[in-house]
Amino acid sequence: MVFENSIFPITSEVNSVDHLVLGGCDVTDLMEEFGSPLYVYDEVTLRSMCKEFVSEFSNLYSESSVLYAAKAFLNPAIANIVREEGLGMDVVSGGELAVAINSGFPADSIYFHGNNKTRDELEYAIQEGVSRIVIDSFHEIDLLEDILASKNSFQDVMIRISPNVDPHTHIATTTGILDSKFGFAIETGDAARAIRQLLKSQRLDLVGIHFHLGSPIFELEPYESGVRTILKFLQPFIKEGLNLREFSPGGGFAIGYLSHKLPPSIKSYAQVIVESTKKYLSELGFHSPKLIVEPGRSIVGRAGVALYTVGAIKDIPGVRKYVSLDGGMGDNIRPALYDAEYEAVIANKTSLENEEVVTLAGKYCESGDILIRDIKLPKLVSGDIVAIPASGAYAPSMASNYNLNPRPPIALVNEGSAKLIRERETYQDMIKTDKM
Ligand code: LLP
Repeated sequence: MVFENSIFPITSEVNSVDHLVLGGCDVTDLMEEFGSPLYVYDEVTLRSMCKEFVSEFSNLYSESSVLYAAKAFLNPAIANIVREEGLGMDVVSGGELAVAINSGFPADSIYFHGNNKTRDELEYAIQEGVSRIVIDSFHEIDLLEDILASKNSFQDVMIRISPNVDPHTHIATTTGILDSKFGFAIETGDAARAIRQLLKSQRLDLVGIHFHLGSPIFELEPYESGVRTILKFLQPFIKEGLNLREFSPGGGFAIGYLSHKLPPSIKSYAQVIVESTKKYLSELGFHSPKLIVEPGRSIVGRAGVALYTVGAIKDIPGVRKYVSLDGGMGDNIRPALYDAEYEAVIANKTSLENEEVVTLAGKYCESGDILIRDIKLPKLVSGDIVAIPASGAYAPSMASNYNLNPRPPIALVNEGSAKLIRERETYQDMIKTDKM
């Protein structure tokens, strides 16, 4: 039976014994094989999101390129899949760059972002030959000039400009407003100064401009405003020598976390970005640059499902019933950090009627370690398996060892077979960098 739920992976089904099936694998078997908690990624969903982005953008704008924002979740298996699907990559640290490079990802399709890249990171990126460094500060311009002079070398760069557009998402994930650590602000004159400084540089070739509004963005209009603001701002620089060869309105495309709050389609995001970009490019007299987008969450988010086992159940009559799971804020910090909301199903009895409101708590020593507050579910007993969909982005990638809990393993499922793409951490892993 198809599991009719667009926030779960595309291949989700329910089998004859009422268990959730992902990528052809019964999740109770996966839990038996790999233990609990467990993250499962569905390869079909992952590949189909990559394909959808590539085709929706290239259908509307032939010179376009999709970069996967690795911060959403990176490991060698994921890097391989996104490369096979024809995406480039956006990295934000030496660590992400190292994983990408060591996975065989071609450096010339990697863009290096970040508001405070260190000298070591910049040297590493230049040595590896990354395609573009996306400059975020005057300090970074100085570092790059210095490094390149010492190597008598050159680098293609973009700069990140903050358009001061509010995309109406959580304040902690809003990045393109004036009061932000990211990007050169237009209002302060920094953006203009940075462009002029780069146009004069002998070693840095300013090939394009980037902005990123925030994430997740459920509205389309902020993209239009961002594109309009940035292109209008850039227009006077054409006569000063700006040759806009690349233009990147970033990422931030939302996914469905709750079945009643679904995002616009990828096609609608593509339409608003491409239409506004084309409109202002032609109105303002630009040649057509390459268009770059950087989805992260929307590539991996829906593909990933978190599986937990129910342990302790504490009922406080008239107040709240706490159902504790064997994971929590260590593997998914998003509810604690952003009040992020999720849904859940009982993976070993998917079709039972919902009958009671419970709070799904984690196992970490914090009262704020709640995964889902007040969710109506079938009656749960210890040992049941809870599946939380839309867990593929920013859960494993932001996971910690808080309370020295080992981070969960990750399985990739496809056509009935499952392979671990990350093993469960061991207690030994937890002390391997420590010294007495
Ligand atoms: N490009 C840049 C420059 C970014 O800063 C980001 C995300 C992206 C692309 C990808 O955004 P996405 O398509 O994944 O929305 N930890 C937060 C999200 C932080 C996003 C940071 N930058 C969360 O869990 O919601």
